[in-house]
Amino acid sequence: MPRPIAPLAPLLDPISERVRAQYERHPYPPASVFALPSRRPEAELALTSAAKLAGYVSFATAPRILVAGCGSLEALVIARANPSAREVVAIDLSEASLTRLGHRVHLARIVQPFCAQAPLTIRQGDLLAIADGPYDAIFLSNVLQHVPNPALLVAHLASLLSAEGLLRLVVYPRASRLWMAAIQHHLGALGLHAHIPAPRRAVANAMDALAADSPLRLSFDVNPESLSDAGVVDAFLHAHDEPMPLDTLAYCIHQSGLHLVAERQTPSSRSSFVDEVDGAVGARLPGTWDRLAVLDESLELCANPVFWLARGAAENAPTVVPRASARPGSMHAEGCILHAVGPIAAKLADLVVATPTHLLVPNPIGAELASRLQRLGDLLAFHGLSADDWLHRLAREVGPRVAPPPSSKVLPGLALSDYEPPMVRALLPAVPPADLDALEAWLKTAHGVGPLAGASGSSGAGRGLRDVVRILAAQGSVLAPVRVPLGATSHR
Ligand SMILES: C[S@@+](CC[C@H](N)C(=O)[O-])C[C@H]1O[C@@H](n2cnc3c(N)ncnc32)[C@H](O)[C@@H]1O
Repeated sequence: MPRPIAPLAPLLDPISERVRAQYERHPYPPASVFALPSRRPEAELALTSAAKLAGYVSFATAPRILVAGCGSLEALVIARANPSAREVVAIDLSEASLTRLGHRVHLARIVQPFCAQAPLTIRQGDLLAIADGPYDAIFLSNVLQHVPNPALLVAHLASLLSAEGLLRLVVYPRASRLWMAAIQHHLGALGLHAHIPAPRRAVANAMDALAADSPLRLSFDVNPESLSDAGVVDAFLHAHDEPMPLDTLAYCIHQSGLHLVAERQTPSSRSSFVDEVDGAVGARLPGTWDRLAVLDESLELCANPVFWLARGAAENAPTVVPRASARPGSMHAEGCILHAVGPIAAKLADLVVATPTHLLVPNPIGAELASRLQRLGDLLAFHGLSADDWLHRLAREVGPRVAPPPSSKVLPGLALSDYEPPMVRALLPAVPPADLDALEAWLKTAHGVGPLAGASGSSGAGRGLRDVVRILAAQGSVLAPVRVPLGATSHR
């Protein structure tokens, strides 16, 4: 039988507690315990080859390895890839995930007795509670975006590394996940969350209600996570999914005394891809991080980055680019009631058109697209380059996104280069949710109107303005403002 799981000191904050509850119910990855890793170990995970990437002539012969936030499978794959390791310590918040891992390891020993495997220690707890370093290697895959303070976690794990230790970090690219975030917001506005019954069916129904060419729907349809309950929860209904902007991540890594020694994601998501698309742009951008940031802000960092990090100063620290000021608003219209007295009305008069019968609110998804373009423009302009030229080059050389085979379906509207930059640049900034709440309260008291019940279809009935805006944004074109019908609040 698998050995009992030893708990670490309790150190749970409310966010990690919610994350733990989610993974207790939906361990990740969602494969059955009978799904064992292939008998051939994954070469990329072997520390012997990783140490070469870092330029080490010698590396610990019997390394000690930490698999941080291991889920239900990863630690076994790593123990297989590094059979000479002295110990592989696998830690996770979720007891259900670790129990599955334990069963899987036990089963693997029985049905694959000839597969060499390092000894595995399984422990339950928060990664910030680990105090038994040093480790020669730490694997942190798809975890950083789920912790309340990612910078603190990177610094803590860096402090647990031995002098020549290596950290393999797999992270979500924040900007390129724009459509994933838009789906998450849409589902949240519809009231769907990580603990609903039959999440795959509920989410698939919600996505089927969107137009067939909606970028949100296309993005959902081609995502392999959309095929299982646990995958849907992990990708679209997560209790806490906050990927860092790439420049912030680079800064955290730098501050933790680590530097990037290799990228291992797919070639068309590596920094070198910038050179392949446009050698002139590659030549003007000094470092890996800046190139990755350009790919990410262009929504082209399509595969999760896989970084091998080692101790030592970076030769290429990320550029800190001054941001241009916010774009001015310009949504004036006849019959606008927002010019009436009232602080919230005055504050939003440049962004929102309100008549007694409807509101026109900037599209929050389009506003995100515009903010990507602005960050891209700022970064490229800092290096004397033009975002428009770069995007036209991308459109010509790379074209729209394509689904993986066998479907190979073209997915128009997912890449930033699918849009005309001036049209995106003309979009207005999103109204913060708190201001939408205040606007809703003001409309009710000053004019006796609110978002109409059913404004967003039957599923939107009776929702507050912030949710109705999110739902309608997903249903229409991301380039058009959201039109919210208003009606007398007494009928709501
Ligand atoms: C998306 S899963 C990834 C699992 C595994 N690393 C993989 O790639 O297959 C994220 C895992 O991180 C764990 N996790 C999140 N926050 C954690 C924390 N603060 N301490 C320990 N584990 C954590 C979750 O319980 C979950 O199993």
